[in-house]
Amino acid sequence: MASSVIFLVLLQLCGLQLMLVAMPTCRMRENLVRTSHHLLRDLGGPFPVHCLQYNVNISFPDSALPATSANQAQCRRALWVVYETLNETQLILQNNHLPVGGGGVTWDEGKLDTFMNLQERLLEEGSCLSTGPHAVSSYFSNVTAVLQHKESAACGWMALRRDVLRVLKIVLHKHHNCFL
Ligand SMILES: *[C@@H]1O[C@H](CO)[C@@H](O)[C@H](O)[C@H]1NC(C)=O
Ligand SMILES: *[C@@H]1O[C@H](CO)[C@@H](O)[C@H](O)[C@H]1NC(C)=O
Ligand SMILES: *[C@@H]1O[C@H](CO)[C@@H](O)[C@H](O)[C@H]1NC(C)=O
Repeated sequence: MASSVIFLVLLQLCGLQLMLVAMPTCRMRENLVRTSHHLLRDLGGPFPVHCLQYNVNISFPDSALPATSANQAQCRRALWVVYETLNETQLILQNNHLPVGGGGVTWDEGKLDTFMNLQERLLEEGSCLSTGPHAVSSYFSNVTAVLQHKESAACGWMALRRDVLRVLKIVLHKHHNCFL
């Protein structure tokens, strides 16, 4: 009798533990976002003037981000835009080669690798944030189009880096209270 009670208690404890393990950790940690920003900032040089012409094709929709983060809904929106932006950027980084050689992209590969590894963690931890309408998908289709032309590919990468940097800077500045 006593042993079956103990058995049941153990069973319940195990069940509880399994539940805790299976529960998604929903968070986006400010320090990981900050480190991502710094890596991206430090892995290359300034935005080249000759790439300005592609601003017509690639212009990040700043209005996707809320103006402030005074309430929960605005925080959810800000985190969602960051999540979507990082997710799409990771996808582009995984599926395209950086153009190398003359006129190519000369980024620090070590920093880029570290950045991408960090994104894996951020995206995994924040995966439950991915709800809501896509806010930046037309921006990313435009980036993809520019990357697919040989003559504009390098500028596409530069513009993408510039814009992701700006998004991260804005959220770390204006919406840092939304992070863990
Ligand atoms: C994130 O990327 C995956 C593909 O790696 C895609 O299936 C998913 O829809 C994307 N989520 C968001 C929120 O963009
Ligand atoms: C996408 O590119 C078109 C021009 O090809 C431009 O009119 C539009 O504003 C761009 N949209 C974004 C979000 O970059
Ligand atoms: C940039 O946009 C212009 C105007 O819409 C278009 O003609 C051009 O093909 C686009 N360039 C690239 C590389 O996507």
